[in-house]
Amino acid sequence: MIMNITQQDYITQGSQRVLYAHPQNKDWCLKIPKEDSNQRFVKREISYTNKYKDKINCIPLYHGTVETNLGTGYIFDLVTNHDGSTADNLQKVTDEGMESKEDSNKLEQKIQQLYALLLEQHIIVSDLHPGNILVRKTSASDYDLWIVDGLGNSDFIKICDVSKIFLKKKLIRKFFRLTQALNLNTSFS
Ligand SMILES: Nc1ncnc2c1ncn2[C@@H]1O[C@H](COP(=O)(O)OP(=O)(O)OP(=O)(O)O)[C@@H](O)[C@H]1O
Ligand SMILES: [Mg+2]
Repeated sequence: MIMNITQQDYITQGSQRVLYAHPQNKDWCLKIPKEDSNQRFVKREISYTNKYKDKINCIPLYHGTVETNLGTGYIFDLVTNHDGSTADNLQKVTDEGMESKEDSNKLEQKIQQLYALLLEQHIIVSDLHPGNILVRKTSASDYDLWIVDGLGNSDFIKICDVSKIFLKKKLIRKFFRLTQALNLNTSFS
């Protein structure tokens, strides 16, 4: 049976995919590729998500696909805040204000922790822009960073899959670009 998605289920979208609430399970969301999107990276994302799911807990679990009136939906855990609202991405959160020195110091610290975790657990990210990271509020004053997109290795020659030195170089480059995009001046080592 085909699942019917309506505009009421719409949450947000990226450049490739639209995010909807799962009509039957409030803990899940559906990612539906846009018509002209490149499907190749979807498979890569799912295989890396499954590979990494036991190593880190800041990535949403994948629950398979469902056919909908808008095309194939890829089911993931919906990342929510302590009050039940959907977590916003880092682009939105910083656009809406994280101006104080205290806020940006805290964010730098969280990003440093994420970098250290990915390095320690040998997790590869290919697309680490602020829209692919969610700020999940765990209380009124604290939050975790979650990675919702861009996991895995898109290189033709996948040396980072096996070499910690190359992985570290890649992570430093990706995290440097991420912090630049956020107007932070963080260094990684
Ligand atoms: N599991 C999730 N829980 C809550 N929000 C999510 C989840 N996955 C994605 N989002 C939100 O949906 C937006 C788009 O998702 P995603 O980044 O996967 O789409 P995309 O089109 O592939 O992105 P890109 O623009 O990087 O190509 C994200 O920026 C994020 O705000
Ligand atoms: Mg994205």
